[in-house]
Amino acid sequence: MLDLIKEVVRAAGAIVRDGYGRANRIEYKGEVDLVTEVDKRSEAFILERLQVAAPDYAVYAEESGRYGSHDYEWLIDPLDGTTNFAHGVPCFSVSIGLAHRGVMELGVVYDPMRDELFAAEAGRGATLNETPIRVGAQSDLGRCLLTTGFPYDVRTSPLNNFREWEHFYRRSQGVRRPGSAALDCSYVACGRFDGYWEYKTQAYDVAAGVLIAREAGARVSTVAGEPYALDAQSILMANPVVHDQMLAVLAEVRG
Ligand code: IPD
Ligand code: CA
Ligand code: CA
Repeated sequence: MLDLIKEVVRAAGAIVRDGYGRANRIEYKGEVDLVTEVDKRSEAFILERLQVAAPDYAVYAEESGRYGSHDYEWLIDPLDGTTNFAHGVPCFSVSIGLAHRGVMELGVVYDPMRDELFAAEAGRGATLNETPIRVGAQSDLGRCLLTTGFPYDVRTSPLNNFREWEHFYRRSQGVRRPGSAALDCSYVACGRFDGYWEYKTQAYDVAAGVLIAREAGARVSTVAGEPYALDAQSILMANPVVHDQMLAVLAEVRG
């Protein structure tokens, strides 16, 4: 099944890459949240391929929603980083995860612009283009490069991540906001970033990335330090030492 997911994610990545830079029709799901025809084309392709292989598995896909009832569930983000994509910024990915009774078993994230494929199978480690990867070994938050994201309701919600951003910026070597949660997780997994936190992430955004990061040695929890589950409304990941330090900062900010 992992080989199938890798093949599907690469082919969906090719669809996304082909649509990149062309005038794609943009629709707004909310004030800030947008979707293009490429998101929909990629998702339709992925669903068609996966449903041939496993017709009765449940599905949770960003554009078509959550449906079906089965112990196995696909978690699909056909284009993670749509805002970048729509603005011509080459930072986005395709993400597919497979969970069994809510526990992640397989996860693949593909960056079609850099041809980087991150993959993991529970208990069998994580890879980048088939080479094993590990989280960074940094133990001092002051030397860490962190990554985060902001929710789509940032204009109206008090849970906007602004204070957290400021605190982490003062305490680390820097904080980035690349714009693809699946790549944020994958970059923690291979040590490019030392830690990642975000509010209001959905299972389809991070499920595959969580497994990849965990299999690469990251500790993954909610921002409150509870174990990460697929219905979690926030995420925090880093190596165990940095995870503790980030948790302390979050506790301070959140009061
Ligand atoms: C978004 C990206 C972004 C994150 C948002 C996600 P989308 O996904 O992953 O980095 O900050 O929370 O919704 O809408 O581009 O698939
Ligand atoms: Ca997403
Ligand atoms: Ca998406």
